[in-house]
Amino acid sequence: ARPGTIAIRGRLLSFDADPAIEAEARAVRFIEDGIVVVRDGLVAEVGEGPAIARRLDPGTPLVDHRPHLVLPGFVDPHLHLPQTQVIASYGTELMEWLQKYTFPEELRYGDSGVAGDAARFLLDTLAANGTTTAAVYCTSHPISAEAFFHEAGRRNLRMVAGKVMMDRNAPAGLLDTPQRGYDETKELIATWHGRGRLEVAITPRFAPTSTEAQLEAAGALAAEYPELPVQTHLSENAAEIAYVAEALPWSTDYTDVYERYGLVRPRALFGHCIHLTGRERAALAEKGASAIFCPTSNLFLGSGLYDLSASRAAGLMTGIATDIGGGTSYSMLTTAAEGYKVLALKGQKLPAFEAFHMLTAGNAAAMGLQDRVGRLAPGLEADIVVLDSRATEAMRRRMERVETLAEELFALMILGDERATVATYAMGRRIFDRHHAGRLAPK
Ligand code: GUN
Ligand code: ZN
Repeated sequence: ARPGTIAIRGRLLSFDADPAIEAEARAVRFIEDGIVVVRDGLVAEVGEGPAIARRLDPGTPLVDHRPHLVLPGFVDPHLHLPQTQVIASYGTELMEWLQKYTFPEELRYGDSGVAGDAARFLLDTLAANGTTTAAVYCTSHPISAEAFFHEAGRRNLRMVAGKVMMDRNAPAGLLDTPQRGYDETKELIATWHGRGRLEVAITPRFAPTSTEAQLEAAGALAAEYPELPVQTHLSENAAEIAYVAEALPWSTDYTDVYERYGLVRPRALFGHCIHLTGRERAALAEKGASAIFCPTSNLFLGSGLYDLSASRAAGLMTGIATDIGGGTSYSMLTTAAEGYKVLALKGQKLPAFEAFHMLTAGNAAAMGLQDRVGRLAPGLEADIVVLDSRATEAMRRRMERVETLAEELFALMILGDERATVATYAMGRRIFDRHHAGRLAPK
């Protein structure tokens, strides 16, 4: 066998296009008995199991996951490293939640031990949930981002993260300055950006916690590094929007603030985007930015209901994310289930194929990573999740009455969570195995 070659067999599911746009036959690639051949961490071949099995070099390790589903690893395009101990905090809306729970907790992340523990926990938990790529907010302390990148790099994961820039409306211990936010981000870029599979995101938290001078500094970074991802929050909550209108009275609307500073562009990820106007959706779409739908967070904080139909009509790309710890689940399956329910309240639908596309290729495209991850296709990185749609008694019982793949996937996303994860692979290396209770050592 060639060194560095492995084969993974199972019920392969990947998306060549968005089933919301293209016909199912063109969008959905399903092989009931398929094999993914992985060579040196990349997908070398995808096809029919029996045919590939016959041709494999003798001695090539073959992991047979049948009857389980084999998908591209999930992509979570919005979550917060320092909020794993904020998740499930009672009784507030966004602005009070930030002041009462989130900012005090984030103050602890100037300590590399605290940040390192959180990074290990977060990456273990993402792997257990089948999530192999994420866009991560650290805190304003550069050490929090260093700790995250160190841990993600050790595991050879494709991860995007940034040091939060914030210079007003928070405790002094969390505030940087326009110059410091700029310098510290630049230093992180020099050290970590492009190292292994890591990327640095320019991360102004949101307009209420950045002065105009800081937004300008973020815009200067964006101009210097036109390929870098940008991440921030936009139009999540009524009080937030009112604050922005009052603090920046020159702005046409909230999106205009970010446009003014050159932060609306391809690979810019705008968390929430609930209360946008038609003008804002059109502007985001025209500039190639992405809206990130965070259903468990939007329900938990009572922020509102995302309008997927309006985004689609405007040509605005939508990703779907956990938003840990405003969000309440690490599971992308649960996140899709709650997304389905949010859209139900809007009289909209999220069919299973569209949901699983969003969790994989769709989220990858929202992050500008469509040529790296999100599909089972030759040349892409072999980040893979194996799912058991009969993981629990409740799921087993429901699956007895399922007749189509679409029905199976829908029940899997509605009833499933981390218990459905059989195994997770990053660059073809197993980083989670349900039989080893998630205790696989990195590398
Ligand atoms: N807006 C600014 N910061 C945050 C945050 O940490 N979580 C959420 N949900 N919204 C935000
Ligand atoms: Zn967030």
